Amino acid sequence: MQRVTDAAKMTRQSASAALLEKIASRVIGLDLEMPVATGKSARRVYLDSTASTLRLEVVQHVLDRYQPYYANTHSTVHFGARLSTREYDWAHEMVLRFVQADRARYSAFFVGSGTTGGMNRVARTLSRQLEGRDVVITSIMEHHSNDLPHRKHFREVVHVPLETGETSMGCVDIRAIERALKEHEGRVAYVAITGVSNVTGIINPVYDIAELAHRHGALIVVDAAQMIAHMPVCMSGNADPARDLDVLVFSGHKIYAPGSPGVVVARNELLLGQEPEEVGGGMVDEVHIDRYVPTAKLPDREEAGTPNITGAIGLAAGLHALDRVGMDIVFHEECELMGYALDHLARLPDIAIYGETDLERYPRAGAISFNVRGMHHALTAAILNDYYNIAVRNECFCAHPYVREMISHALAEADDALSNEELEALAELQRGMVRASFGIYTTKADVDMLIVALKDVAANRAYYESQYEACGSDSFQHKTFRFEPDQFFSIEGAVGEWLAGK
Ligand SMILES: Cc1ncc(COP(=O)(O)O)c(C=O)c1O
Repeated sequence: MQRVTDAAKMTRQSASAALLEKIASRVIGLDLEMPVATGKSARRVYLDSTASTLRLEVVQHVLDRYQPYYANTHSTVHFGARLSTREYDWAHEMVLRFVQADRARYSAFFVGSGTTGGMNRVARTLSRQLEGRDVVITSIMEHHSNDLPHRKHFREVVHVPLETGETSMGCVDIRAIERALKEHEGRVAYVAITGVSNVTGIINPVYDIAELAHRHGALIVVDAAQMIAHMPVCMSGNADPARDLDVLVFSGHKIYAPGSPGVVVARNELLLGQEPEEVGGGMVDEVHIDRYVPTAKLPDREEAGTPNITGAIGLAAGLHALDRVGMDIVFHEECELMGYALDHLARLPDIAIYGETDLERYPRAGAISFNVRGMHHALTAAILNDYYNIAVRNECFCAHPYVREMISHALAEADDALSNEELEALAELQRGMVRASFGIYTTKADVDMLIVALKDVAANRAYYESQYEACGSDSFQHKTFRFEPDQFFSIEGAVGEWLAGK
């Protein structure tokens, strides 16, 4: 019997792996060929999925099939409106299914401008809903989107530190969260934590944090901007209900969808009982000159105005495709790639990797940040792009406190004679990193290409430095090679082309 179960499991795994291979190999723009500074051309190696993922062909297929029927979901009778409304509703259901949230107790709704839009809405809503609770606990690892909205809407935001691993910082320090919860007992509205860091890819134990927060009467809000595309999420139905998540926020553009619909999934009771934050069309049952009555229906009451229908449908298409594969399989593949990439990067003596690299203790997903020792992050990123067509991001990734902390930590490790003031001054001067980040389409060959490029940069540092001039303090321009975007695309040019066509 056991053997039959194992065989069934293996069949499922290989079917899922084949599906993943099909989805991941058909991606729009992945093989973009561009002229580079050597005078040749190179195929794009896209290592910037943490910023935005590329669009999957399956998503584009769904959008192309849908587009002829496109209509406003607030119209109700004509064919296009009925079809659009049904699919837009289905997109909400798909989100709930994807994050394993009980449909009877949770609602998903779309907001504008990604996770930032969602997190601002959550902070505004919960600050009113949880009146009297005026403290939010977050960590120093957070993206500004999971920090500033809480600062704006609550009296106090506590930033807890991270654990210290063998060589560097690891995940958020759960004991520090516990201390903060105790210190502010009765005042904490929620603990707002990222599932996965957008700088180091380090994964936080969000279900343990949920349990802890709930034990102290606080909620948990998870920033899933990075978690969502890399690992399974289970909002409800955990063996211990205390480990369920109250609110989760993410963005479509981080998970292969077009545009940037923001998504909030929350327990219904957190959304009801007060007037919705945003008012206008679509969220109201009755409007008179002297009063109006918001609908009690979720998610409608949270979605004032015409929604981003195309964005939601594209997002649901991507989620459905990934759900067919299974996020456990996606995560498994990703762990292997992450291990491979870290192992190969760590072998390069000129590369400083940020964040603890012991994957057993601190698993990671999606991103690795590093610097070529002694080289400005912006110069490294420019060389990777201009000579290799390797797309990475640099600077501080909207996570200034975390980046500053890690750079100071690395500087202190390298030179223990530095005073605190010297450390701070140096960290400010060198503030920034290079980030290589992955999506389902990233391969070991892409990582190999990065390693080849970094070895070359380190070995020929003087040559590369001589090819660039600094423009201000944070960017470098090649002295002779120029990229002219409108040679490749401009809206004006593309419209002109179409108008001139037959
Ligand atoms: C962890 C994390 N949170 C929040 C955000 C903000 O997302 P958006 O740009 O979609 O608002 C990002 C974007 O990089 C992120 O990585």
